[in-house]
Amino acid sequence: MGEDVIQIQEVVWGSSEYVQTLALRHEILRRPLQLMFDPMVFDAERSDIHVSAKFGDWVVGCLILTRNDKRVKMRQVAVASEWQRKGVGAKMVVFVEGLAKNSGFVEMVLHARDSAVPFYLSLGYEVVGEGFEEVGIPHHAMRRTLVD
Ligand SMILES: CC(C)(COP(=O)(O)OP(=O)(O)OC[C@H]1O[C@@H](n2cnc3c(N)ncnc32)[C@H](O)[C@@H]1OP(=O)(O)O)[C@@H](O)C(=O)NCCC(=O)NCCS
Repeated sequence: MGEDVIQIQEVVWGSSEYVQTLALRHEILRRPLQLMFDPMVFDAERSDIHVSAKFGDWVVGCLILTRNDKRVKMRQVAVASEWQRKGVGAKMVVFVEGLAKNSGFVEMVLHARDSAVPFYLSLGYEVVGEGFEEVGIPHHAMRRTLVD
């Protein structure tokens, strides 16, 4: 079973599917760092673009795009543990790059956890500048142009 059985789609903020992405984000991104959810984030991300990867009804991946003028920031990228290294993350990134390109954005930017830098490098992203700390762990800024 691989990424061919995975459906990628936009998720409506506040929907039951959005709630499933919150659970996945907590499990994959926050719980391992002993971080709790700040309820203030929910309202702040109302105008973001939310995307999920589903296997049937099961949300196995998610990410968020935040618009910033001509750039778009990709964040909260998470794949369920049992689905990692099966192409789900790559499929989501390719999907949102198409979405962003069609909406006229010229560049995708992100703050990658150092453990995820090889993932983004494999998708054509490049590291920008020195590393820094965020949520208590090392990160690097990365970017990829969306114009040919
Ligand atoms: C990082 C993450 C989103 C990647 O998603 P994924 O579905 O596991 O990745 P994919 O299977 O699509 O990987 C695509 C390619 O990226 C590279 N890659 C992915 N994970 C990698 C790793 N841990 N080490 C080295 N290369 C990696 C490989 O080249 C891989 O292709 P291959 O499996 O054919 O070799 C996912 O593993 C995850 O949720 N990790 C925990 C949370 C996290 O770190 N999120 C990112 C925060 S910035």
